[in-house]
Amino acid sequence: MSWQDIDYETLIPNNVGLAEDARLQRALEGWHPGYIDWWMSMGPEGFQMADVYLRTAISVEKEGWAKFGYVKMPQYRWGILLAPEVEDRVIPCGEHLGEPVWKEVPGEYRAMLRRLIVIQGDTEPASVEQQRHLGSIAPSLYDMRNLFQVNVEEGRHLWAMVYLLHRYFGRDGRDEADDLLRRQSGSEEQPRMLGAFNEETPDWLSFFMFTYFTDRDGKMQLEALAQSGFDPLSRTCRFMLAEEAHHMFVGYTGVKRIVEATARAMAETGIEDPYDVEAVRKLGVIDLPTIQRKTNLHYSLTLDLFGSEESTNAAGSFNAGIKGRYHEDRIDDDHQLRGDTYPVTKLVDGELQAVAVPALNGLNARLRDDFIEDCLGGIRRWNREIASHGIDFEITLPHVAFNRAIGEFGPIEVTPDGKVITADEFAASAAEWLPTPDDKALIDALMEPEVEPGRFASWIAPPSRGINNQPTEFEYVLLP
Ligand SMILES: [Fe+2]
Ligand SMILES: [Fe+2]
Repeated sequence: MSWQDIDYETLIPNNVGLAEDARLQRALEGWHPGYIDWWMSMGPEGFQMADVYLRTAISVEKEGWAKFGYVKMPQYRWGILLAPEVEDRVIPCGEHLGEPVWKEVPGEYRAMLRRLIVIQGDTEPASVEQQRHLGSIAPSLYDMRNLFQVNVEEGRHLWAMVYLLHRYFGRDGRDEADDLLRRQSGSEEQPRMLGAFNEETPDWLSFFMFTYFTDRDGKMQLEALAQSGFDPLSRTCRFMLAEEAHHMFVGYTGVKRIVEATARAMAETGIEDPYDVEAVRKLGVIDLPTIQRKTNLHYSLTLDLFGSEESTNAAGSFNAGIKGRYHEDRIDDDHQLRGDTYPVTKLVDGELQAVAVPALNGLNARLRDDFIEDCLGGIRRWNREIASHGIDFEITLPHVAFNRAIGEFGPIEVTPDGKVITADEFAASAAEWLPTPDDKALIDALMEPEVEPGRFASWIAPPSRGINNQPTEFEYVLLP
């Protein structure tokens, strides 16, 4: 069997020749029931019997890789899919630069690799858990379907990491795979590993912000791991990135459709002042300052996921060649960074300023900078949408030091425009900058389900086109 063929005859669809590795197949088949239990108890609540118009990967080729059809989610064909092997691929960075990539785990980097895979793996089921209550308050069948598509694919991403753990890490890999089903988002005793994945996703504005910002962190991490000299990890991540693009599309278009509904309703009723919140809210839409506060929250929580600005761990995995930079293979430098520096924003004498640090230690900051750049495009288009209705308001990203818990800015307080202030000053203005109980009450009141095909809740505009060339009024979910 070659890599382009996915074996769908077996319990676990795959293009890794699982049928030829009886031990591994048995091990993964042993993990499977626990996964299904997890999906039934922690996956989308109340919709496990619905027929959902989902895409399923049928190839790992760039074109025509997915097919669409109605599926009950518990019967989704989660599989193990690796992108094609790149011939003669070499390690793209660090001490082993230019050597052939590893097909097996190099002993000296075993612990480091396992840790990276477990951390990535932990985020995948976490987001499904965070989003499990959203189906029953979906603003349309179209949106409900997109939520479930994201959910089943995050489930598949979990499979991707579990495959690596089972195939390459023996006994402790199997234990780690079990633990991925044991931890739970928001749990007191066994929380998920990273902060943002223990936050709630209580409403659809949060969901769209999460898929715009936090799934984009996922993209950046996967991009960095796609550069790995450990080839199976690289190939797994390359295929995951194809699926991840849709998650960010859901977030980007979701927020865009929300600001469209708001700006249009304001224009139609002649409300010019975006801060006349009371008048705007009466129109059944979400006011723009609330959307800005949600942006501030989700963006700052997501920045924390990049870890400390200066990190010897990050330097270590780059040196080892197991995690590269964003687009490592397109960067024109020596890919070893030994004498280089990188500017990192730090607090110096009470002020924030760029300080040159050894480039190897600044790799987290660099990936975070690439992330910030990547965020800006969609925000520009949200603002163009607002402006096109003649409303004077711009959504902006707060300063990188605003509302942070991890790294250089954890201990300090900073305004959205980057002025260092005291904790008291921050507390006094927090209601202007971060979502308030009042915002939450407004959003919660709007979260009425809309399940009539082709109809959309008042606070969100219909999409410009449907999924897979279907009309927007297509019945994307057949409710039982
Ligand atoms: Fe994912
Ligand atoms: Fe995702």
